[in-house]
Amino acid sequence: MTNDLLQQLRVHGAVPAHVAIIMDGNGRWAKGRALPRPLGHHAGMKSVREVVEGCLEAGVGVLTLFAFSQDNWKRPAGEIEALMKLLEEYIAKEANELRAQGVAVRILGHLDPLGPGARNAVDRIVAETAGGQSLALNLCISYSARAEIARAARLLAESAAAGRLDPRDIDEDAVGRMLYTAEWPDPDLLIRTSGEMRISNFLLWQLAYAELYVTPVLWPDFTRRHLFEAIVEFQRRDRRFGRVSV
Ligand code: FPP
Repeated sequence: MTNDLLQQLRVHGAVPAHVAIIMDGNGRWAKGRALPRPLGHHAGMKSVREVVEGCLEAGVGVLTLFAFSQDNWKRPAGEIEALMKLLEEYIAKEANELRAQGVAVRILGHLDPLGPGARNAVDRIVAETAGGQSLALNLCISYSARAEIARAARLLAESAAAGRLDPRDIDEDAVGRMLYTAEWPDPDLLIRTSGEMRISNFLLWQLAYAELYVTPVLWPDFTRRHLFEAIVEFQRRDRRFGRVSV
């Protein structure tokens, strides 16, 4: 069913090396069915599997998903608990298959507030999938881009204060090396589901030149076909990086 699009995007040219996704709309999806919000998040797990498979099929090298923001700690306790349980469930269910598919999972964010169950689960999946060569899957959990940039500034200041770094050497590359994403290229394509036109404190530094793609589709309805449509649209864009078209 998706072969036509897959074929099309292969013919069109460069597939984005790095795709980032703001997975939004789980709550609205549940509300539309008169279900509790956590069931929307639960349904969203299937879409995570879809985009992982889609990236493997299309040849995307890095997939970064916004799963839980630092601001999400302000949600009702019951919803936070449900999201943390879901993270554990996701890991228990997916770890073996991700490893078998060569997907290396990494967790980006400030993990101190995570309870022991979620913390053990994320440590486990990172260890068990380390070395995967097909796809880097970054799950942003308890993540805030501003906090990430502030952390990078603090790390650079500490190096300078300790005499390991000359402040005159602090440039964009030096900042980039202190971000959670240091080892990957910046995202080429940012997808946001559910129609909201916001960045929501996600990868503020790294998205400087990303192409933005917003779809009205709610996250639990998002499939690999939608991912391929986004990539085909990306391939039509004229990326100039501040230069003029050639
Ligand atoms: C935003 O929808 C989504 C989240 C806060 C959670 C995303 C989590 C998943 C997709 C679950 C599975 C994924 C992993 C990796 C465990 P929202 O609640 O803000 O929706 P709304 O805007 O419609 O209320």
